Amino acid sequence: MEQKHTWWKEAVVYQIYPRSFADSNGDGVGDLNGITAKLDYLAGLGVTVLWLCPVYASPNDDNGYDISDYRAIQPEFGTMADFDRLLAQAHKRGLRVLMDLVVNHTSDEHRWFQASRSSRDNPYRDYYIWKDGKEGGTQPPNNWGSCFSGSAWEKDEATGQYYLHLFSKKQPDLNWENPKVREEIYDMMNWWCQKGIDGFRIDVAAFYAKSNFDDGRVAPGALYGDFSASCINQPRIHDYFREMNARVLSHYDVMTVGETGGVTPAQAVKYAGLDGGELSMVFQFEHVDAGERIVGKWTDRRPQMPELRRILNRWQLGLADKAWNSLYWNNHDQPRVVSRFGSDAPLWRTLSAKMLATCLYGMQGTPYLYQGEELGMTNVYFEHIEDYRDIEVLRAWEELRAAHKATDEQLLRYFAAIGRDNARTPMQWDTTANAGFSAGTPWIAVNKNYLSINAADEEKDPDSVLNYYKKLIALRRENPIFVYGGFVPLLEGDASVYAWQRRYEDRTLTVACNFTPDTVPCTLFDGAAGETLISNYHSRAAGVLQPYEARITLM
Ligand code: GLC
Ligand code: CA
Repeated sequence: MEQKHTWWKEAVVYQIYPRSFADSNGDGVGDLNGITAKLDYLAGLGVTVLWLCPVYASPNDDNGYDISDYRAIQPEFGTMADFDRLLAQAHKRGLRVLMDLVVNHTSDEHRWFQASRSSRDNPYRDYYIWKDGKEGGTQPPNNWGSCFSGSAWEKDEATGQYYLHLFSKKQPDLNWENPKVREEIYDMMNWWCQKGIDGFRIDVAAFYAKSNFDDGRVAPGALYGDFSASCINQPRIHDYFREMNARVLSHYDVMTVGETGGVTPAQAVKYAGLDGGELSMVFQFEHVDAGERIVGKWTDRRPQMPELRRILNRWQLGLADKAWNSLYWNNHDQPRVVSRFGSDAPLWRTLSAKMLATCLYGMQGTPYLYQGEELGMTNVYFEHIEDYRDIEVLRAWEELRAAHKATDEQLLRYFAAIGRDNARTPMQWDTTANAGFSAGTPWIAVNKNYLSINAADEEKDPDSVLNYYKKLIALRRENPIFVYGGFVPLLEGDASVYAWQRRYEDRTLTVACNFTPDTVPCTLFDGAAGETLISNYHSRAAGVLQPYEARITLM
C-alpha cells in the first residue's frame, strides 16, 4: 500500500518527563506551569508534537505510571486549570499534545482496586486478575516474575487470593477480558479527546491480553519464570485495539503510539498497519535492547554496529509500505544515547551526538526526541545507590544482592550504564544553580556537567548539538523525501559505517554514519555524490569517514 500523507508521519515528537523538565514553584519537582513557560523554546526547536509522561493523580510508586485517578492532575504538577492553559498555549504555537495512557494497570490506590480487594463478590472484583494460590494458598498461582523484581503475584490478606502485577505490587493489572473495564477506559479516553488533546502514547500496550496462566520459562540463573509467552503480544490484543479504535480513536484526528515490548516487525504490521484499524505506530525495543546482557536486563556491555544495523534495517524494510515506524534512541526508561551508542568523552560528545541524530532523522518514521537529547545530555554516573530514585534499580539492587547474582560494584556499574535515572536527571537549562531547573532542591540530583552542557550556552553556539537538531528538524520539514522516501540499505557488511539511501520521486538521499572514534574507509561520497545537506564536519576527507562523521547528501 502507498503511504498516505498524514500530519503524524510528518511530525517530530518531543517527549517531556514533567518531574524533571522545569520547576516553576521551587519545590524541586517539575510541573505543568514549568512546561508552559518553556513552550517558546520547544516551538523554536521545530518539534510539532509534545508527549507528556503521566501527569495524573498518583501515589508515585513508579513516578506517575501508577495512576489513582485518570481524570485528575497530580497536585505536585499543578491543577486541571494549569493543564488546560498548557494545552491552549501549546495549540496556539502549533504544538499538539499527547497524553500517556497507562491502562495495563492502575495504582492499588485507585478506587476500582480499593473496591476490588474489599471482598470476593464486590462488583469491581473482576476489574483485576485474582487467583487462588497454589499449595493451599501459600504459594503464588504461577512462577511469573514482575518487571520490577519479585513475584508478579501479591497475596491480599483481606480475601486470601493473589492479584497479578506485572510491574510493582502497587500497580495491579487490569482485567481486559472484562467488557466493563474496557468501557470505563474508552469513556475516559473520550473525555480527554473531547478536551482537545491530540492523541496518546500507550503504555505497555502489548501486555493487556493474558492468554493462559501456565508457568513461564525460567532462564538460566533467573529467579522467576518469564511471563512473555502468556502476556505479551497475544492474539486477543488486536481485538482490544480494534475495539478501542472503533469506540474512541476513529472519532478524532488523533495519533497513537503503542509501547510494544517484544514486538516483531510482523506483529507491528498488525498493530500499526496502513488500514489504520488499530494504532498509528508502535515503539519496538530491539535496537535499544541490542548487545549482551549479564544479569537479567542488566549489563555494561555496548552493542556493536553490525547488530544494530541488522535490527534497524529489518524494521525499515519490514514496515515499508505496510505500516509506519517510530524512531527513537531515548526515552525516560533508557540511558542517554550519547553515552550508550556514541561517546560522552569531551572530545567526542558533540560529534557523536550529532552523528546519532543524523542517523535517526535519516531513517523513515516519526522521530521522537527526549528532553535533553537535543543538548547531547549524558548519563549521570551516580556512584552510590542512595543517589538513585528509580523503583526498578532499587528493587533490582535488593533482589540481586540477596541472591548473590553480582557484586555491589558490578551492579553499580550496570545501573550507571543503563539505569533509567540516567534519563531522569533534571533538564539542563543554563549555568545557574541546579542547571536552572529549580530554585529549590531537585528531587533527583542534577548532572554535574551542566556547567558545560546546557541549553543557554548551546543556543549561542552555532556548532552546538542543539543547533544541529534545529537544522535537521528544519530539513525534514522542508524535504518530503526525509519523511516519505523509501529505504535502501548500503554497505551491509561494514563493521563501522551505517549507510543507506532514501528515494522519493526522482531524488536520492545518501546517509552515512561512522559509529566509531576511528577514521574508516568509505568512498560513498567520492565523485558526484550530490549536495551535502547536513554533516557534523565542516570539511570532507576523500576516501574516508572521519571519527563519528555523519553526512547526508541529496541528488
Ligand atoms: C512503561 C513505562 C515505564 C513504566 C512501566 C510501567 O514501560 O515507560 O516507565 O515503569 O511502563 O507502567
Ligand atoms: Ca514544582
